[in-house]
Amino acid sequence: MELAVKDITKSYGEKVVLDGFTHIFEKDRITCILGESGRGKTTLIRILMGLEQKDFGEITGFENIKKSAVFQEDRLCKNLSAVANIKLVCSKAVTKEEILENLKRVGLAEAAYQPARELSGGMQRRVAIVRALMAEYDVLFLDEPFKGLDSDTKEQVMDYLLEKTAGKTVIMITHDQEEVGRLNALELKM
Ligand SMILES: Nc1ncnc2c1ncn2[C@@H]1O[C@H](COP(=O)(O)OP(=O)(O)O)[C@@H](O)[C@H]1O
Ligand SMILES: [Mg+2]
Repeated sequence: MELAVKDITKSYGEKVVLDGFTHIFEKDRITCILGESGRGKTTLIRILMGLEQKDFGEITGFENIKKSAVFQEDRLCKNLSAVANIKLVCSKAVTKEEILENLKRVGLAEAAYQPARELSGGMQRRVAIVRALMAEYDVLFLDEPFKGLDSDTKEQVMDYLLEKTAGKTVIMITHDQEEVGRLNALELKM
């Protein structure tokens, strides 16, 4: 089935955030949503994830699918380690070794067993990314996933993301045009 959004409207009180938004998302590709702050990017993907109600319009293909996400905030369990946070969302078949291997890919081998609250912002961000990528999903949603990462770390995390999401459907919000090219992504301007 198509992943389609047709004539979506959403207001908060008097404020119209989405006004007849229409798009068909390509499957098995990364689509980058770009647009100034406040344009409704986060609202749109929250509607697609089923976390927010649209006022009007039609959405097809997003029901009854598995979704995984990196939210604008990290949403980690602060008292749990990186490994434990990731274990919470993985299927039982995923081993601790696999989780450690994934954490290593984003430079977190040493921090794997520290409580999340003791990690820096950028480290917590990477835990949230690994967690989202290790969950089972049909569509992956990423809301400014590389925010707060320095450029070397970002390169490393983008390589990891590209490898893990090959052939999968990803909808990602970003402000950075360079990421679109680097990820060989489709571009959706809002
Ligand atoms: N729960 C909410 N209640 C009221 N206003 C909201 C809510 N969520 C978002 N908004 C408003 O909707 C607009 C779009 O927000 P958002 O979707 O977060 O934009 P973006 O992600 O593109 O920066 C902003 O003006 C924001 O203040
Ligand atoms: Mg946003």
